[in-house]
Amino acid sequence: MFKQSLAIVLLIAYQCECEFDYSQYWPGGKTTGAPIVLECGVGLIPINGENNGTRDAAPGEVAFQVSLQKKVSGKWAHACGGVVATNGFVLTTASCVGGSNTEAFTRSEAGNVNLTKGGWTRRRRASYPGQQQPGVQYTMKSTIHPDYDEITLANNVALVGLAQPFDVQAAAGAINTVCLPESAEEDHSEDQHYVSGWGAIDGVVEFKPKLQIVKANVVECEPSATALANQLCVVQDLDDSVEDCVGDFGGPLFATNGNTSTLIGLYSSGTGCSANNTAKFIDVKPYVTWIKDNSKPTYGK
Ligand SMILES: *[C@@H]1O[C@H](CO)[C@@H](O)[C@H](O)[C@H]1NC(C)=O
Ligand SMILES: *[C@@H]1O[C@H](CO)[C@@H](O)[C@H](O)[C@H]1NC(C)=O
Ligand SMILES: *[C@@H]1O[C@H](CO)[C@@H](O)[C@H](O)[C@H]1NC(C)=O
Ligand SMILES: *[C@@H]1O[C@H](CO)[C@@H](O)[C@H](O)[C@H]1NC(C)=O
Repeated sequence: MFKQSLAIVLLIAYQCECEFDYSQYWPGGKTTGAPIVLECGVGLIPINGENNGTRDAAPGEVAFQVSLQKKVSGKWAHACGGVVATNGFVLTTASCVGGSNTEAFTRSEAGNVNLTKGGWTRRRRASYPGQQQPGVQYTMKSTIHPDYDEITLANNVALVGLAQPFDVQAAAGAINTVCLPESAEEDHSEDQHYVSGWGAIDGVVEFKPKLQIVKANVVECEPSATALANQLCVVQDLDDSVEDCVGDFGGPLFATNGNTSTLIGLYSSGTGCSANNTAKFIDVKPYVTWIKDNSKPTYGK
């Protein structure tokens, strides 16, 4: 009995050091139901391959897109992109979650995310039972790839474990997982590729409020001394000189076949998408086993 009350006192004391009480978002809290299993890679509406150039994604079109947000001066701000790997895990680059991006101050938002000018997220009333929104979840634990090198950005992959899974049911199709390549032989070279994001790349301060999508091509990387293994070089499909990357670091390059999208890469470095200034993506295929091993559900059992 005494031990129990001591534990409670310690817990309260610990919580008081927090700027915000995150405990209500921890596992064991209320969810509106068992996660439903959707076919991976399918959005609420198909990816519109007819449109050329950078455009607004329609609500539910890129259902696996995540906005990774950091708390800055008490407000949540868009910082990186990511994808829904499973209901409970967001896949992004290690450079997005390492360093000062401590876990208590990151959260993930999925499902028709609209940012404000400058990338701040809109404040919403906490009307959703036990959580703020079905698509807003706090980070419980980030797992950075053990071979990540923060200088060279080799193996720049990380998983963000959510304190509670996204409520896919409540999102009614607007949130879904992306497909991961199932084998080394799986070939998407003939599929249309896309990059999506709000524009959170170095030096770009003006985020787009609506999620952007652009057709993209994987090209051969220029040989260089700093070339990395598992790196893809990407240019936008239209060969204009506008260096108009819409992606966010950590965000996806994906290939779409029919209505199904498969993750190909994560935006790792480079600030351009023109022929002479390619964006560098981490090729996710070599990391699929690591991703699956490290995104096993930790709740709901
Ligand atoms: C879009 O691009 C395709 C080639 O990728 C071209 O055939 C088509 O005319 C373009 N459509 C518009 C509206 O520009
Ligand atoms: C974002 O804006 C679109 C309209 O462009 C709207 O349909 C969607 O519901 C908005 N998302 C949220 C979460 O309010
Ligand atoms: C893709 O989705 C559209 C609309 O939801 C549907 O009409 C079409 O049959 C689907 N195509 C495939 C290949 O599943
Ligand atoms: C890209 O580089 C090539 C040769 O290095 C040059 O001919 C071409 O004009 C450059 N294109 C742009 C858009 O700068």
